Amino acid sequence: MAVIGGSGLYSLDFIENPKRKKFDTPYGQSPEIVLGDLNDKEVAFLPRHGKDHAAPPHRINFRANLWSLRELGVERIFASTAAGSLDLDLEPGEFVLLDQFLDFTKNRTSTFYEGKEGVYHVDMTEPYCPDLRNILQKTAEDLDIPVSSSGTYVCTEGPRFETAAEIRMFRQLGADVVGMTNVPESVLARELEMCYSAVSVVTNFAAGISQERLTHEEVAEIMDENMERLKDLLYSTIPKVPKKRTCPCRNALSGAKVEV
Ligand code: HPA
Repeated sequence: MAVIGGSGLYSLDFIENPKRKKFDTPYGQSPEIVLGDLNDKEVAFLPRHGKDHAAPPHRINFRANLWSLRELGVERIFASTAAGSLDLDLEPGEFVLLDQFLDFTKNRTSTFYEGKEGVYHVDMTEPYCPDLRNILQKTAEDLDIPVSSSGTYVCTEGPRFETAAEIRMFRQLGADVVGMTNVPESVLARELEMCYSAVSVVTNFAAGISQERLTHEEVAEIMDENMERLKDLLYSTIPKVPKKRTCPCRNALSGAKVEV
């Protein structure tokens, strides 16, 4: 099992016997992963932007990140993302368990399958693992952490924030929260037949939803305020994940290859 930490989540102090590891990947980078235990489970932690948040969203080597988790044998991923809210009723500090995304990225490599290994079209009807989302939701209820049990995430290219007009458009398209990193992360996980779930922490109202200017300072501040609750949620969720997978994520490639 792995946790991918977004803005604000740079370490997981509940991992016991932590060891740092690097894996060579065919993608020009060897991300550093922290490996350790939680109860009887092996848990990996990977900060998405790198150890010192060095990579902006459009420069993250998503393929190297996901590939190295696969090399480790990871089958399930819990990702955290900071996100802006497109809805005045969804306030900073609230958690959203994502169930859909809209992809507005522009310049990212969104596949492992460039043609050499064959051509694959993976099903993304349901981009986030429904089983992991259910466990997250039940755990959040047990812990009295208010969460939205579903939400559509619109992924923008960044690193700039959006214009007010873009946010108006995304609202009309049905987005609930906006961020810059869930695509292609979730897509690449699916191509590797991993279960991928994501908790968005609402850090701000998106551009034009409130009249305030957006700053990263505000995003970082609200993430900090909610970090303990986010870690509690992960700490209590991970031990509840059953060993065996029964969701469709594990067979994502079956029937996906173009055969001629
Ligand atoms: N837009 C894009 N990404 C974000 C935002 C936002 O308003 N807040 C946190 N990440």
